[in-house]
Amino acid sequence: MGISLQKVSFHYTKNQSKDGINNLDLIINEGDFLCICGATGSGKSTLVAHLNALLLPQSGSLKIDEYSIPFKRSFNINLLRQKVGLSFQFPEYQLFANSVLADCMFGPLNFKFSKEQAQSSALRVLELLKISDLKDQSPLELSGGQMRKVAIAGIMASNPQYLVFDEPTRGLDQKASQELLQLFYQLNQEKQQTIIAITHDMDFVAKYASRVIVLKEGEIVFNGSKEELFESHNFSNFGLDYPSTIKVLKYLSQETGLVFKPLYQVAEVLEYLQEKA
Ligand SMILES: Nc1ncnc2c1ncn2[C@@H]1O[C@H](COP(=O)(O)OP(=O)(O)O)[C@@H](O)[C@H]1O
Ligand SMILES: [Mg+2]
Repeated sequence: MGISLQKVSFHYTKNQSKDGINNLDLIINEGDFLCICGATGSGKSTLVAHLNALLLPQSGSLKIDEYSIPFKRSFNINLLRQKVGLSFQFPEYQLFANSVLADCMFGPLNFKFSKEQAQSSALRVLELLKISDLKDQSPLELSGGQMRKVAIAGIMASNPQYLVFDEPTRGLDQKASQELLQLFYQLNQEKQQTIIAITHDMDFVAKYASRVIVLKEGEIVFNGSKEELFESHNFSNFGLDYPSTIKVLKYLSQETGLVFKPLYQVAEVLEYLQEKA
């Protein structure tokens, strides 16, 4: 069914329309791989905090599948929180249990899975993330990349229909970042898992996004495909960088006269260069 926001506004300070988010209209379809971009302070984290009702709109409304916000007083907010798994920036700060497995079972148990269901779900996700061998270790003994994966496994173990990440690769080394993004992509392609990710990494956007929105001062200034984004005449107003493939192709065009062609996958660039050689 998907997520829709209608004229959602949230401001942290009264009479201050420059902070938070302002009047956002947005539709997120099931199966999307949506990247949310924009400068620091543009409202990205505020937006995603609304998707699992961590923040409630001060005006406007949201629909998340069958659930509507503002909701009725009697509404069990956990129903929504299980549907939308939200991974904050540096989610590993919230690891606390004695073992990786226990940490990953915490979410499902909180959502009233039986102990057996919680365990089998946690084990399944640890397997998916290729970290089953860590299950009996203390989360505090792990490397940064492993901790991040464990924290994300804990969110995925509750089987959320929508997975939302606030800068999932921030602070991770190249290898750990690539592994994580590749996994998200695989889930999206093979299991139609909806992924919503805040990122500053334009190579990530170029490689994986099915749709991109750009926020600026709390408003959506772009909503479309990555091709439309990177080829937009307005691009310089968005405060974003170009992906590496575009930088290389622009450089070659300037230095060698190669006809510029916007390409977003390294394999496509190599093919184009061979064709032109
Ligand atoms: N707890 C808060 N109190 C006051 N202002 C805040 C708070 N959190 C965020 N803001 C302000 O709201 C705006 C959007 O913040 P945020 O959603 O965190 O942006 P982003 O995630 O894009 O960096 C910024 O101007 C920020 O300073
Ligand atoms: Mg943020």
